[in-house]
Amino acid sequence: MTPTTPATAKAGPGGATAGEVERAGLITCTIDGTELQVPKGTLVIRAAEQVGIQIPRFCDHPLLAPAGACRQCLVDVATPGPDGSLRAMPKPQASCTLEVSPGMVVSTQHTSPVAGRAQQGVMELLLINHPLDCPVCDKGGECPLQNQAMSNGRASSRFIDAKRTFPKPVKISTQVLLDRDRCILCQRCTRFSKEIAGDAFIDLQMRGVRQQIGVFDESVLGFDPTSLPEDDVVGPGGEPGVAAGLRSGPRGEATLDTSGRPFASYFSGNTIQICPVGALTSAAYRFRARPFDLVSSPSIAEHDSCGSAIRVDHRRGVVVRRLAGDDPAVNEEWITDKDRFAFAWQSAADRLTLPLVRDEQTHELVATSWSEALDIAARGLRSAAETGVGLLPGGRLTLEDAYAWSKFARVALGTNDIDFRARAHSGEEAAFLAARVAGTGLGVTFSDLERAPFVLLVGFEPEDEAGTVFLRLRKGVLAGRVRIATVAPFASGGTRKLRAELVAAAPGTETEVLDSIRPRSGSRTGDPVADQLADVADRLAEPGAIVLLGERLAGVRGALSAAERLLARTGARTAWVPRRAGDRGAVEVGALPNLLPGGRSVSDYTARGEVAAVWGVTSLPGTYGHDTAGILAAAADGRLAGLVVGGVDLDDLPDPAAAERALRAASFVVQLEVR
Ligand code: SF4
Ligand code: FES
Repeated sequence: MTPTTPATAKAGPGGATAGEVERAGLITCTIDGTELQVPKGTLVIRAAEQVGIQIPRFCDHPLLAPAGACRQCLVDVATPGPDGSLRAMPKPQASCTLEVSPGMVVSTQHTSPVAGRAQQGVMELLLINHPLDCPVCDKGGECPLQNQAMSNGRASSRFIDAKRTFPKPVKISTQVLLDRDRCILCQRCTRFSKEIAGDAFIDLQMRGVRQQIGVFDESVLGFDPTSLPEDDVVGPGGEPGVAAGLRSGPRGEATLDTSGRPFASYFSGNTIQICPVGALTSAAYRFRARPFDLVSSPSIAEHDSCGSAIRVDHRRGVVVRRLAGDDPAVNEEWITDKDRFAFAWQSAADRLTLPLVRDEQTHELVATSWSEALDIAARGLRSAAETGVGLLPGGRLTLEDAYAWSKFARVALGTNDIDFRARAHSGEEAAFLAARVAGTGLGVTFSDLERAPFVLLVGFEPEDEAGTVFLRLRKGVLAGRVRIATVAPFASGGTRKLRAELVAAAPGTETEVLDSIRPRSGSRTGDPVADQLADVADRLAEPGAIVLLGERLAGVRGALSAAERLLARTGARTAWVPRRAGDRGAVEVGALPNLLPGGRSVSDYTARGEVAAVWGVTSLPGTYGHDTAGILAAAADGRLAGLVVGGVDLDDLPDPAAAERALRAASFVVQLEVR
């Protein structure tokens, strides 16, 4: 992990003494003549970055454990001996695995010919088998190998023999392709899969010149030595028989996942982004564009509620790829495959570009101008409002859009009949959101998740529902800081990757299980279930413990009330983790029948007066509106004449057929959609 404490100014007259520096846990060293102080445990490559010195590297990644696999970051190092005099290390050292020590003097390629020659030598070796296909390689133009070959390599190649090649590309999943001859064996991809995602889907295989990354598949990788031509592989002196040493042995965990598929992971696309060459490429992006053709826009992923930072790359108005953005407070540098690859909708042929109005004679949707469409919508809603209009904005709005819906409902239509919940929901949930979620500020952060002593998951499967939450929890677990228990019917793959303890609860029994989590009144009972529940209660009472509640609990009668009681008993903090990107914002701005913006109740006279003043009206409706089910029922039986609908997938609702009947029954429907 990158140290967050920056290098400090060097000790000098008026500065800290050597003893004070040591007591502060800082180490003084010198890099290219600059003396600096960094926290104990800082790697030389990170210390150099802090004083603006860039050491070339491939395998090093600040979010992965040091590996020392590529040897590109070699530097010249000397350390003080017992007598205090500097002693040079006999060989250049990998700066990505070496921690600074007191008095260490580091010379990089900028000041040491030894380091410079070592780096050039490593680069020359890496390029021996690397194809010179930069003009057709997707990484060309944004490739660390290309860049560092220019900055730290030799001007020309001395290699005159045939390069090693492999059939290519290997399709290791529907989205990820592997060109093995470009691979420099840095193992970033395999380390990511094991250390971060917990899915050992690819691995380093074979030895020597045929060493390669891949999914274990003999037919693709040609691992069966008996299939190799006699003269295919020879030893350093040309001796035959090396093929016998290529036997792969028994298949390991990298073979197939439990579903029988290779390379199955919700996070596989991150390997494409961190591969420092063009060995791993995206099937969706391959050969579509060059980096210098692209316009990049920072954005936020829309497929879950984590708020992961992404970069959207588009070419001539068409989105061609999405990359993880770098947001240390949220997703660090990782995103889910859904966030990375599920962008085709943005350029789909049926994207709406003009408003459509249903022709009264033919009942077909006909494109029209914005002014006519807005006029028709205004007239239709004004007329329907005499009976009543309900609003179903859905859970995929931005905070600002949801605020506009909330204000439009109250100010233009004079109703509290608005509910963003396009899924199973309940009045109990609305009360819980008002009491525990709306207006509570930032609450539990991602970094809190990494540091909590104990996290209880209830009705929530982080790997499936919130990828960033899963990765941050896993990071805390692997660091030995976080313990997790999950109230669930069975231990899923994600549960195992989080090393979570299962608190078994049959679907629908979460209420009883939560009410049974109570501090132990005496000594252990010997009943494993009772003792487990008491242990969970004890751990929830630890400072910093967190309960993560999934939106599924809205479908279990009494579960959210039981969660409230549990929080009150134990003092644990909580976060509600919905599945749609706009759900949390919609709660905040009052896109609910019982809430105004800021978590204030619609029945609160003072709150209504303050919000009305901000919105420039004299009064706001003061009675609770209908929720989603109530709005649809009222539309179906004519108590509401109009509906305004946005981003609602009827199949997400408990009764899609009834919802469709309600939409058909309404006399006037306005829908805001992208398709
Ligand atoms: Fe490194 Fe890329 Fe090869 Fe993986 S495929 S080892 S990330 S070069
Ligand atoms: Fe140091 Fe690879 S970056 S060995």
